[in-house]
Amino acid sequence: MKNLTMDKLVAHCKNTGILYPGSDIYDGLANTWDYGPVGVELKNNIKRIWWKRFVQESENSYGVDAAIMMNPRVWEASGHVQSFTDPKMDCKSCKSRMRADTLIENFSKGSVDVDAMTNDEMQDYINEHKIKCPVCGNFDWTPIRQFQLMFKTSRNITGDSNDVIYLRPETAQGEFVNFMNIQRTTRAKVPFGIAQVGKAFRNEITPGNFTFRTIEFEQMEHQWFCKNEEEGFKYYKEYKDKAWQFLLDIGFNKDDLKFKDHEKLAHYAKAATDIIFNFPFGWNELNGIHYRTDYDLRRHQEYSGKNMMYIDPVTNEKYIPHDVEYSIGADRLTLAILCEFYDEETLENGETRIVYHFHPAIAPYKVAVLPLQKNMSEKAKEILKKLSKHFMCTYDESGSIGKRYRRQDQIGTPYCVTIDFETLENETITIRDRDTMEQKRVSIDELINFVKDKIEF
Ligand code: GAP
Repeated sequence: MKNLTMDKLVAHCKNTGILYPGSDIYDGLANTWDYGPVGVELKNNIKRIWWKRFVQESENSYGVDAAIMMNPRVWEASGHVQSFTDPKMDCKSCKSRMRADTLIENFSKGSVDVDAMTNDEMQDYINEHKIKCPVCGNFDWTPIRQFQLMFKTSRNITGDSNDVIYLRPETAQGEFVNFMNIQRTTRAKVPFGIAQVGKAFRNEITPGNFTFRTIEFEQMEHQWFCKNEEEGFKYYKEYKDKAWQFLLDIGFNKDDLKFKDHEKLAHYAKAATDIIFNFPFGWNELNGIHYRTDYDLRRHQEYSGKNMMYIDPVTNEKYIPHDVEYSIGADRLTLAILCEFYDEETLENGETRIVYHFHPAIAPYKVAVLPLQKNMSEKAKEILKKLSKHFMCTYDESGSIGKRYRRQDQIGTPYCVTIDFETLENETITIRDRDTMEQKRVSIDELINFVKDKIEF
């Protein structure tokens, strides 16, 4: 993460096809970003390894892909309609809307525990310290008001205000409402898990910090349903370890990660922690793990009138399962990876190379095919076609070979393959390792097996 600032990262991502500002040609839309050809591969790979670890390799875990728009009663049952709000205030001078807690956090440089403050306490703190608007520099605030974070839309069938539909602010509820369907159709026995990866939407007003907090983002959430409180605490600990190990296996340095237990627990949670990451703008939440008791299923039973009781097939015991939730943003994790594995290295000739040391499993392209000379492009494209059947590859024939290596280094391609005269004679190629920059000669079949082995996660 050497020398990395957010400005540098944003510029790098824009220039290399990782991320662009959303609606760019219309001057953007605040807090939205579009993944380019390189970024979409990176994020897809991240979602894939998460799914592999937490569904494919996790015994008794099942996937779901629920609708983004759900019956509005879901959000009453979950508590979002009543309390999913942020304390916001408007600057009367420049009309900017700000979160009061963020203003205090930034002003106090994290030394004040805003989570523990009431709105009145926050108001007093802002007045006492005369915290100014970060946009215009004036101290001219409206009082703090709670703003609903859910986006609303409407089917407009009746034109009635009761016709409201919310864009889901988390994927978790799609897992809870399908608990009975999944249990019945898979015949899963408690303990078992339900996972979902998908979009969530929040009307966040927190400018800056790139994709850290956006209004549209993807979550990777996993609910683990178990019998009772004793098991809830046991699996809470287990999921803390699993979430931590997942990050270490991606290659995160453990010194850049920390657990931060919640001091103030939500009314439904009996234990909660975040894994926080050392972003260039400071330590911030990467993922959350909550022991949520039987709150969610109990609330859905109450609001839907449908029975959420699980019947143990051996003992015939009936109970509403407890839940341990592990939730991580796909975009938040992608951002942390973009920060953690960025490097600038000084080469022997004094030049600087920007390199992403991504784990090969998440690298956007696994192999870049580079013909040494233009007249070798036919053979190179034949090899590209062969390799592309196995993994994502890219092709580059413009510029010196040194420049082409640099281009691949800066998007983290782990292997560059050069096509030269010998390739034309005996179907061997030179493979260059991104991290060591060492090269060796191998046959094309050897290359395929070698790369397949390296991209295992
Ligand atoms: N179901 C629990 C839940 O949604 P959360 O802490 O609000 O909990 C979980 O969100 C994760 O989703 C966070 O740890 C973060 O990684 C990601 N996330 C939340 N809000 C986000 C936003 N506005 N932009 C990007 N990622 C976000």
